[in-house]
Amino acid sequence: MNVVTRPDADATALARPPVPPPYGMLAELTHRCPLQCPYCSNPVELDRRNVELDTETWLRVFTQAAKLGVLQVHLSGGEPTARRDLEEMIRHCVKVGLYTNLITAGVGVTAERLQSISDAGVDHVQLSFQGADAMMTDHVSNFRGAHERKLAVAREVRRLGLPLTINSVVHRANIHQIPDFIELALSLDAKRIEIAHSQYYGWALRNRAALMPTREQVFWALEIVEKAREKLKGRLTIDAVVPDYYAKYPKPCMNGWGRQSLNVTPSGKVLPCHAAETIPNLDFWNVRDHALDDIWQDSPAFNAFRGTDWMPPLCQTCERKEIDWGGCRCQAMAIAGDAAETDPACHKSPLHGHLLALAEEDAATGEETFDYRRFLTPDRRV
Ligand code: SF4
Ligand code: FES
Repeated sequence: MNVVTRPDADATALARPPVPPPYGMLAELTHRCPLQCPYCSNPVELDRRNVELDTETWLRVFTQAAKLGVLQVHLSGGEPTARRDLEEMIRHCVKVGLYTNLITAGVGVTAERLQSISDAGVDHVQLSFQGADAMMTDHVSNFRGAHERKLAVAREVRRLGLPLTINSVVHRANIHQIPDFIELALSLDAKRIEIAHSQYYGWALRNRAALMPTREQVFWALEIVEKAREKLKGRLTIDAVVPDYYAKYPKPCMNGWGRQSLNVTPSGKVLPCHAAETIPNLDFWNVRDHALDDIWQDSPAFNAFRGTDWMPPLCQTCERKEIDWGGCRCQAMAIAGDAAETDPACHKSPLHGHLLALAEEDAATGEETFDYRRFLTPDRRV
C-alpha cells in the first residue's frame, strides 16, 4: 500500500503553525449493528462490510495515532464486537500506549468474549441502554430481549473489574425515565452515566418529529440532572449533553472543529466530527492514502472550519467565539443550508426563531412511530 507521508505542501500549509495534537480518536470499526435505533447518528449511507479497513491498516492507524499524540481511542461502530479482530486491535493499542474505551450495545457479547476482550487489555467499557426497563429498551432498539442481554453484559463487565459507563440517549419517548436511568447506573455499579439528548444528524434527522422533546420536558430533565449530580457527588458522575434547540447558546460542538479529536470511519475516511459527511463538498482524506498526522494537519476538511478565521462576522465579533467555536457546523448545514453560518441554536442567529419553531412543531406532532435504522437481523424486530 502506498501511503503518502506528506502532501505537496502549498504556501498556505507552510505558513500555518502546527496544529496541537488531538486527545481522542473515535475508531468506527464497522457500521454493522444488530440494533435499529431511530436516533442513530451514523450516515444514511452506511459502509458495507466489504469496504471496511483490514486489521493491518487499523493497527497502522493506531500506531500513527499514538505518535500524533492521541491519548484515548474509542472503539466504536456500529457494534465493534462484530469485528473478530477486536482483541488484536486492543492488544496493539495497549502496546503503543493508547487508553482504550469500548463502546458497545452489548447484545451479541457473550461472557467468554468479554473475558477475551478484558484479557486483551481493554481499559474501559461504555454500554448503551435505550430505555431504563425492558419494555423501553426493546422498543427503541427494536430488538426483543436487548435489555436483559445488556444487564448481563454490565454485570460481567463489573465482575471482570472493568470500569463501566452507561450511555443513554434520551428523547421524547423515554426522557421521563431519566431518574430510572440514574437508578439503573447505580444498581449496575457504573461510575459514570452519560445522558445525551438525541442529536439530529444522519438517520436521526428522519425521526426528528418522533424524537423531539417538548420545552417542558427539557427543562424538567435539566433540573432532575442537576439535583442528581449534587446528591450523587463522589458516587456517580453524570455527564449530560443538552439539546440546544431550546438553549440560548449553542454547544461547543467537538470542542471546536479540528481542535481535540478525529473520527475514522469503517472505510478509512477521517472526519472532524461524526456527522461531517452531511456537509457537501468537504474533501475527506483517507488513511489508505495519507498518514494520520498529515490528515490532521493539512487535509482540507480539517482546515475548513478550524480556529476562528472561517467564522461569519456575527461570530467573529462575539466574545464567545473561543468558548463555543460558533456552535455546530453540521447543525448550521442542516438548518441554515450553509456550514459556515452561525449555528441557529445561538439566540443571535437570524434563524434562531426558525429553529425553535421547528422544535416546537416537531414536539407537538405527538408522532410515535419510529423509522427504524435497519442494517441486520430483521427477525429480531419487536
Ligand atoms: Fe457563539 Fe457565534 Fe453565537 Fe457568539 S454569535 S455566541 S460565537 S455562535
Ligand atoms: Fe459536526 Fe457538530 S456534529 S460539527
